[in-house]
Amino acid sequence: MALLNWDDRLLVGVEPMDQTHREFVGLLGELARAAEADTISALDRLIEHTVLHFRQEEEWMVDSGWGPPCHAGEHHQVLEIIRTVRTRALAGEWKLVGVLVNELGPWFEHHASTMDSALVAHMANVGYQPQALVAPLAGAVPA
Ligand SMILES: [Fe+2]
Ligand SMILES: [Fe+2]
Repeated sequence: MALLNWDDRLLVGVEPMDQTHREFVGLLGELARAAEADTISALDRLIEHTVLHFRQEEEWMVDSGWGPPCHAGEHHQVLEIIRTVRTRALAGEWKLVGVLVNELGPWFEHHASTMDSALVAHMANVGYQPQALVAPLAGAVPA
């Protein structure tokens, strides 16, 4: 299983977004390493965090006055995929979780370096200072 590990080349330069992204990568790692019995709870942690992660960016888009619908649309699609994998894993298709982990790493790298980075550039251009809307994740998240 190809696992995305945190690397500072993933930084976008806005601390609240970078913190949320570090946690996303950490939760993806937890999911990759979870025993089968712990897979659903690891998926639930990832889903819960990803809902907040995406909502935070979408609120910044609204507050700063720019957010192309394709960015929020991609968030929506990704969440639907993760939720579908959870449903199908519960039905016995556990191998889909490995496929999800393999796909989410490259997806995240691309998304952070394109759509998220474009949002960061826009916020800087208009002088918008994004405030953290996601509380730091409780408990240690592996880097
Ligand atoms: Fe993001
Ligand atoms: Fe995003």
